[in-house]
Amino acid sequence: MLSMSIRSLILPAALLLGTLQHVEAQTTTACNPLNTTGCPTDPAFGTDYNFVFNTTPAEGAWETTAGTVDYTDNGAEFTINKQGDSPTIRTKFYIFFGRVELWWKVAPGQGIISSMMLLSDDLDEVDWEFLGANGTVVETNYFGKGKGNYTWEGDYAVSGGTTSDYHNYTLDWTNSSLNWYIDGEHVRHLTPEAANNSVNYPQSPMRLSLGIWAGGDPTEPLGTIEWAGGETNYSNGPYTMYVKSCRITDYNTGTAYNYTDMSGDWQSIEVIK
Ligand SMILES: *[C@@H]1O[C@H](CO)[C@@H](O)[C@H](O)[C@H]1NC(C)=O
Ligand SMILES: *[C@@H]1O[C@H](CO)[C@@H](O)[C@H](O)[C@H]1NC(C)=O
Ligand SMILES: *[C@@H]1O[C@H](CO)[C@@H](O)[C@H](O)[C@H]1NC(C)=O
Ligand SMILES: *[C@@H]1O[C@H](CO)[C@@H](O)[C@H](O)[C@H]1NC(C)=O
Ligand SMILES: *[C@@H]1O[C@H](CO)[C@@H](O)[C@H](O)[C@H]1NC(C)=O
Ligand SMILES: *[C@@H]1O[C@H](CO)[C@@H](O)[C@H](O)[C@H]1NC(C)=O
Ligand SMILES: *[C@@H]1O[C@H](CO)[C@@H](O)[C@H](O)[C@H]1NC(C)=O
Ligand SMILES: *[C@@H]1O[C@H](CO)[C@@H](O)[C@H](O)[C@H]1NC(C)=O
Repeated sequence: MLSMSIRSLILPAALLLGTLQHVEAQTTTACNPLNTTGCPTDPAFGTDYNFVFNTTPAEGAWETTAGTVDYTDNGAEFTINKQGDSPTIRTKFYIFFGRVELWWKVAPGQGIISSMMLLSDDLDEVDWEFLGANGTVVETNYFGKGKGNYTWEGDYAVSGGTTSDYHNYTLDWTNSSLNWYIDGEHVRHLTPEAANNSVNYPQSPMRLSLGIWAGGDPTEPLGTIEWAGGETNYSNGPYTMYVKSCRITDYNTGTAYNYTDMSGDWQSIEVIK
């Protein structure tokens, strides 16, 4: 994820309208439960834990999916030194509704994207994304079953700016609402009804990824480069984002989550105790 290779093109509609919002749902998954029965079950987190990234997190909990992440007193440090760098970590576990609280100082720099993504096996997705070219706002977005619409993105101002200090970015996700908070302020509220009558409401077990990538890399599609605020100039780097801590709460308490049919509806997903 978050790597250039599996990012799809920005929707042509957004380009035609001259709007540069980011509308790229993730498009690949190892086994898509919408398409087949018998995908492996998802390991459940089933608990509440605050990962403090002053030290490497437990190998059983997180994996590095690209590059190298350093763990220091500043937190987890994700750095782009050169073209092709996109260090990323991902939880090995899934949460099935829950809460995520991140203390995060994002990377400045034209064409640099700091991001968090929750993603399920059937491509439900919830995002926080920051353009290094714009240190004043955060973009929020969601996708349901791999589908999105540029109108679903929402940008919110971050008081004090995103790149000079750590802020509290919290998500709270249940079967009846998805809420985004910045430093305790409730900025966005989404209901299933508002998400295409629940069809595109994120409602399946999700893993969390944190990473940085160059949306302004010259190999990216033009629409992506424009959305990212222009081409990345690697000689002005390194570009680093810092995540001090990540508290994750799973609202279910099983050991695994099982899709019992191909609907992707939360009611169809079994919590194995
Ligand atoms: C289901 O599988 C078919 C054939 O491999 C593929 O064309 C289609 O895109 C898949 N759909 C999903 C939702 O993964
Ligand atoms: C940052 O984005 C906001 C919202 O889209 C916009 O109003 C503002 O002008 C942008 N600032 C910069 C420096 O691009
Ligand atoms: C919204 O839901 C309908 C089915 O009710 C579906 O046909 C349509 O593709 C969905 N819209 C998007 C953007 O996925
Ligand atoms: C996105 O939403 C707009 C406004 O509701 C709608 O006109 C457009 O058809 C939608 N696009 C897609 C791809 O669903
Ligand atoms: C959400 O889940 C809870 C617990 O499983 C259930 O009691 C409640 O009815 C569900 N809410 C909706 C909107 O279906
Ligand atoms: C971070 O924000 C969330 C949402 O408002 C809040 O519940 C939480 O207490 C905040 N964390 C701290 C350490 O203040
Ligand atoms: C990239 O940054 C370097 C150092 O600031 C500068 O010399 C160079 O002209 C920049 N390249 C472009 C294409 O702007
Ligand atoms: C998952 O659900 C399917 C469909 O009900 C069932 O056949 C399968 O045995 C379940 N898997 C586990 C591990 O319980």
